[in-house]
Amino acid sequence: KILILDFGSQYTQLIARRVREAHVYCELHPFDMPLDEIRAFAPRGIILSGGPKAVYDEGAPAVAEELFELGVPVLGICYGMQLMSRHFGGEVVPAGKREYGHADLLAQGRPGPLFDGFFAEGRSPVWMSHGDHVERIPHGFEVVAGTDNAPVCAIQNVERGLYGVQFHPEVNHTPRGETLLNVFVRRICGCQGRWTPGQIIEDAVARIRAQVGAERVILGLSGGVDSSVAAALIHRAIGDQLTCVFVDNGLLRLNEGDQVMATFAENKGVQVIRVDAEERFLSALAGVADPELKRKVIGNLFVEIFEEEAGKVSDAQWLAQGTIYPDVIESAGGKTGKAHNIKSHHNVGGLPEHMKLKLLEPLRELFKDEVRAIGEELGLPHAMVWRHPFPGPGLGVRILGAVNKEYADILRRADAIYMEELYSSGHYHKISQAFAVFLPVKSVGVMGDGRTYEYVIALRAVETRDFMTAGWYPMPYADLARISNRIINEVKGVNRVVYDISSKPPATIEWE
Ligand code: XMP
Repeated sequence: KILILDFGSQYTQLIARRVREAHVYCELHPFDMPLDEIRAFAPRGIILSGGPKAVYDEGAPAVAEELFELGVPVLGICYGMQLMSRHFGGEVVPAGKREYGHADLLAQGRPGPLFDGFFAEGRSPVWMSHGDHVERIPHGFEVVAGTDNAPVCAIQNVERGLYGVQFHPEVNHTPRGETLLNVFVRRICGCQGRWTPGQIIEDAVARIRAQVGAERVILGLSGGVDSSVAAALIHRAIGDQLTCVFVDNGLLRLNEGDQVMATFAENKGVQVIRVDAEERFLSALAGVADPELKRKVIGNLFVEIFEEEAGKVSDAQWLAQGTIYPDVIESAGGKTGKAHNIKSHHNVGGLPEHMKLKLLEPLRELFKDEVRAIGEELGLPHAMVWRHPFPGPGLGVRILGAVNKEYADILRRADAIYMEELYSSGHYHKISQAFAVFLPVKSVGVMGDGRTYEYVIALRAVETRDFMTAGWYPMPYADLARISNRIINEVKGVNRVVYDISSKPPATIEWE
């Protein structure tokens, strides 16, 4: 396994993902991880990330001196390379010319094992983002490459297994970067690439069994990717010791509840308690129009109902959750301070502490792509594993203003048609998230010989990597025409369909 020490670069998570894509397990920790913890972790290699600071600044983040004496290979990226350079007597200075974006890396000297094959005709395109560079080469190192602006952009001490690169191999804009990281973890560090879906499942199953023993586990199943994969995995490990609670809040999509039951209870024989709580949710929401208040009402009622049901499973000792690695990193890495709360995204989280249950989080170390890969390996339906994200409050935040059953039924039918069309036209998997929104305003239309006065459905489809910023999807007119026609013809109560062409920011992805 590989240890990644984080100096605060916006790309650190990408390093971890690239390493995992090489089927090597890695963990990301803050740069000041104590040395004895590093020794206990026993990495086969260490990667030092980039970071926003300058190494020569007072109090700049640093690593323990002994880090380079552990006898394992170290790769320093950007700030990490500068840190390593200074440690070995090199000199880092502010660059006369900063370098951001594409650069042409020019080979010098022998490439050595890490850069073997990295250059084509002495060059390799890379992505740079730095204001400082290494001016004097550290002792014992040789220069592998530079650019016109910065003569020292890749260094190595092959004998000691120490490497530094000024560019960012972890981003897609460095075409051969993925290979470079792969070579580092596999060839230089000697990791074998055992981190495959089958192996992840096998390890997790063994761990769950060891942790839980003969005790009972309960899990709040929502039908979303994370809780579904957690359920399938835990069920594989402990079978009937797992009880799932699936709360149908009446704000799910068309037939969603039945699909969840079919997948888990019927096909896999998982014990699922289905709670039909539509009426309770709708009456709690009656007249509540404010988006944040709706979120609170839905979140609180969910916890209340989950507690009631879990209380009936009297011997439960464990609460399982589908927490994944990015959730862990985000809540631990709060050093930079989070942006203020635009929308409260409480999911199935925030479950009752006073229930005194032990927490089981089998996906805690996995990235979303890994969760999906093991979901497929566990035999979950493709459509469930590759589904767009669906917010915890469900249709509750896609019906603008006050929610009622009539609106929810109309929205469910419109959304189902939209999804069906996106699947059949092949757009679904090119879109990051798509859904229909119910607008409680009436507009005039004409159908046959009669005047209509009915509701409006808005269609949203966005492309995004991180859901922090998003662009609207350029849906072809012909597809929009077909979807609009079908919704207006097939969904009673709707006579107008509009397409949302706002990006985030300034709009958000959901309408509430
Ligand atoms: P926004 O609308 O903030 O959405 O651009 C970004 C992502 O978050 C999802 N979202 C939520 N997820 N509970 C959730 O679990 C919520 O209350 C919530 N609000 C938004 C949204 O679907 C998108 O993927």
